[in-house]
Amino acid sequence: MGKNLALNIADNHYRVAAFDLDADKVQGVVRQEELERIKYLNNVVDARIDGCNNISEMLSKLEKPRVVLLSVPAGAPVDGVCQSLIEAGIEADDIVIDTGNSLWTDTVEREKRYASDFLFFSCAVSGGEVGARFGPSLMPSGSLTAWNRIEPIWQAIAAKVDAKTGLPIERFEPANPVKEGEPCTTYIGPAGSGHYVKMVHNGIEYADMQLICEAYQLLRDGLGYTPAQVGEVFERWNAGSLNSYLMEISADVLQQADPLTGAPLVDMILDKAGQKGTGLWTAVSSLQIGCPAPTIAEAVYARAVSTQKVQRQQLSQQLSGPSHTPVAKFADGDEQVFIAQLENALYCAKVCSYAQGFQLMAMQAKEQGWKLDFAEIAKIWRAGCIIRATFLQSITQAYQQNAELENLLMAETFAKALSEKQNDWRFAVSAAVMNGIPAPCISSALAYYDSYRCERLPASLLQGQRDFFGAHTFERTDKPAGDKYHLNWSSEDRTLDKL
Ligand code: 6PG
Repeated sequence: MGKNLALNIADNHYRVAAFDLDADKVQGVVRQEELERIKYLNNVVDARIDGCNNISEMLSKLEKPRVVLLSVPAGAPVDGVCQSLIEAGIEADDIVIDTGNSLWTDTVEREKRYASDFLFFSCAVSGGEVGARFGPSLMPSGSLTAWNRIEPIWQAIAAKVDAKTGLPIERFEPANPVKEGEPCTTYIGPAGSGHYVKMVHNGIEYADMQLICEAYQLLRDGLGYTPAQVGEVFERWNAGSLNSYLMEISADVLQQADPLTGAPLVDMILDKAGQKGTGLWTAVSSLQIGCPAPTIAEAVYARAVSTQKVQRQQLSQQLSGPSHTPVAKFADGDEQVFIAQLENALYCAKVCSYAQGFQLMAMQAKEQGWKLDFAEIAKIWRAGCIIRATFLQSITQAYQQNAELENLLMAETFAKALSEKQNDWRFAVSAAVMNGIPAPCISSALAYYDSYRCERLPASLLQGQRDFFGAHTFERTDKPAGDKYHLNWSSEDRTLDKL
């Protein structure tokens, strides 16, 4: 990541001084810059990356006030490097930018902790290694003084979107950065807000990935398709409303043969999913703040279930499922009809997971006093990042039409699409349930949709239960909001008290 960001910055004509604890890595980036300079720039410009042996040397090579980018794992390593920078003589008006996936509350703390040593700034980066190299999506937050100084660099290195179509302008060649188009970066807000937004991006990423995986399992186990056949279906979907980077790479992964055995590679990959924590943080944050985000949380649980391989092996022998009914039966035996239903189901579930993510950001913004611009956030996710998709253009437009939108499901375009597609969604969930194929995200999203459609939920009974055993009180439908009542459940005459 650090290497690729350095090369991207160098491509945009900024001089870079690079340091890593591993000297080979420093030599690697210097060598790569040299090779690319010779190949793509005919060696007519000076070296753009200086390799350094230690932090002091790196600081001495930078123009003051300096801009230092950290590309280290989240957590203690960030503070370790900050401490080393202090020891090496970093100055109060130098800017230090954390580009890792740090926990947003750590970022808030760090801005305060290092205030007298340097300007601590953060910029969450999405797009993986290729994104960092050729144009990531960048979510900067913190001091506006720092932002004003680095903004031109950020605009230069970020992914670009064609302003007319909203589609990414692709670039996969060094030394020739895209100059035109809208850069996928915007100032998010005060310290912590950028990392919070990136955290939610990752929560949505978890849901997006799991939704695609569930569709794969339904096509694989339900219709008996081979991985390559599912890959072909995904390629078709990628040409429609489900177009996304994650759909594109899933089609690719499924069509890849294992170089060792020739079997589909996906069958040779152990079905235990890893995670580094950002999806978990999103789910935890949604629970803490009281924002319903079941599809995102289910995606985290799905990874957890996947790691229970030994239990799953045992229980696969022990627990029975439904007698096998071909999934296609739910579409009158027509596979293509089922595939179309599943495509619509996936679209609807995807809308719900984005609705959850955006509502979560809105609720946290309110809590923290951040003024998040959701049209801009959707805009900078249209290219460069892992969840990039044409769909983000519709979200951008929804927030451009109504910046105060409380829930994406209320946007006319999504409300209409979900109403039209919901029957297909229900058929797909029924097919999964009746065939015993787990689809936690597709089905939890449907429960989310149906819950929001209910003007009256059984929470009235729940409040009755709470008042019964714990005198927790309830509000009444016929009295002003906030007035509390308690029924004396254990007394004979069951009188009602107003508290
Ligand atoms: C991105 C990715 C990137 C990384 C995450 C997720 O936006 O570029 O989200 O940040 O892939 O760390 O990793 P896990 O799946 O391991 O949690």
